[in-house]
Amino acid sequence: MIILTAEVKSFISTSAEKEANVMDLLFKGGTVVTAKSTFKADVAVKNGKISAIGANLKPEKKTEVIDAKGKLILPGAIDGHTHLAMPFGGTISTDDYFTGTRAAACGGTTTVFDFVLQGVGETMDKALKRRDKICKADGPAVDYSYHIGVGDVTTPKMLASMDKCMEMGVSTFKVFMVYDFGVDDGQFFETLQHAAKIGALVGVHAENREVNNALIKRYLAEGKTEAWYHYMSKNEDVAGEADVRAINLAKMAGAPLYIVHLDNKQGVEAVAQARAEGYPIFAETCPQYLYFTKDVYKKGIPELRLRARDFVCSPPMKGKPSQDALWNGIKTGAVSTLATDHCPFTKKEKDWGIKTKTGGKGNFTTIPNGCAGIENMYPYILSEANKGRISFNKAVEISATNPAKLFGIDYCKGAIEIGKDADIVVYDPKKDFQVSNKRNQHGALDHTIWEKAKFKGYPVATYCRGKLVFDGKDYVGKSGDGQFVRQRKIKLKGPNL
Ligand code: URP
Ligand code: ZN
Ligand code: ZN
Repeated sequence: MIILTAEVKSFISTSAEKEANVMDLLFKGGTVVTAKSTFKADVAVKNGKISAIGANLKPEKKTEVIDAKGKLILPGAIDGHTHLAMPFGGTISTDDYFTGTRAAACGGTTTVFDFVLQGVGETMDKALKRRDKICKADGPAVDYSYHIGVGDVTTPKMLASMDKCMEMGVSTFKVFMVYDFGVDDGQFFETLQHAAKIGALVGVHAENREVNNALIKRYLAEGKTEAWYHYMSKNEDVAGEADVRAINLAKMAGAPLYIVHLDNKQGVEAVAQARAEGYPIFAETCPQYLYFTKDVYKKGIPELRLRARDFVCSPPMKGKPSQDALWNGIKTGAVSTLATDHCPFTKKEKDWGIKTKTGGKGNFTTIPNGCAGIENMYPYILSEANKGRISFNKAVEISATNPAKLFGIDYCKGAIEIGKDADIVVYDPKKDFQVSNKRNQHGALDHTIWEKAKFKGYPVATYCRGKLVFDGKDYVGKSGDGQFVRQRKIKLKGPNL
């Protein structure tokens, strides 16, 4: 038996500490961008955390030095809205927790929030455990957390299961005002009040279910089956009315509210108004609403072999006035976050809008809803910043800093700050990039609505907790590198984060 003397013990512990304390990485000569400022500085990383930010930091013996001259040092993006391996529309979304997060990493996203859909009669914590098993088995490539997609709050037991999710580190929930599994206004109100009591945040998919269903019935009776009628039955007013109602319900309930995938002018204006009145109302939009308009539902983009049905997602893209309002909302702060709603389906599955899975005649309601975008969000918004439409600070704020704050993970994510996880993107503002699903995308889907989109500037490296996962061309991490990120309680009193 070896007996360790106090002297030997202290030697072991000091050398172990020393080993644990070496500077692993040093990003030299770059320009750091935060939500509030832009400055030249070196950034050091130890044990997966940012350990120092300053001028002329000196590497240690084993430090890997990354030349960041001419590059921006940005926090990894947080995609607050993904649907990976999600059963929907008679199939399962194409990207699983590995392929989806691999694509995320290659687009500079280092944390994703995926949706758990609670089944009828299933408590939310059970649903969470069920999904987490699938996620862990797939092996996520970047860090991840969840929102619970509320599917049943019809009993006190179901509502109380929100508390158990909180104990498990998930404090964010989403209700659906549309879809047959969604809530009615009373259930929505109860969920909001309960959330406010326990320090949870409720998100909402706001579309008027009854009007949507009535329009679907009318169009189908008139033989109007094309993808255009997906937009027509979920038009600006169908979304805007529900946004206004959701805000009113949150005010009544005395609860904060997060409107997911906001896409229309009436909604932006209602959010801005509620925030001006001091209410904690927040909105997310998605790159597809900033880049495409409803015109894609007319003929698709034939020269790119994209059909109108390939763009079917919920909510659908809207007209130019709504797009302009969203951009304005980003600039003024009415829109707090950007997320993808990544929910990819294959071309063959999109064809179910022509001929259904079982061989019947298809229509716009038989197309699985959702498109890919997880790899394109950060490059797109950074490119818009690079072209001068918004500042790089704003791009960082809505893509990383605000989602971290809203979803209770800003203790470790969302900014280039000492003590935060070293989720770092090295961004080359001079690199031109054009999306090609075949050549440079890293998901599992057979097409992308972002085909041939041109970006000015592109990430040339992504680090997740100090580990290189994207080298500017390929994914270089490994399946299972991603870790679950616990959310803290969320107490939002007013519109400021
Ligand atoms: O079209 C989409 N986004 N499908 C996923 C479900 C949803 O409502 O977010
Ligand atoms: Zn939704
Ligand atoms: Zn969604």
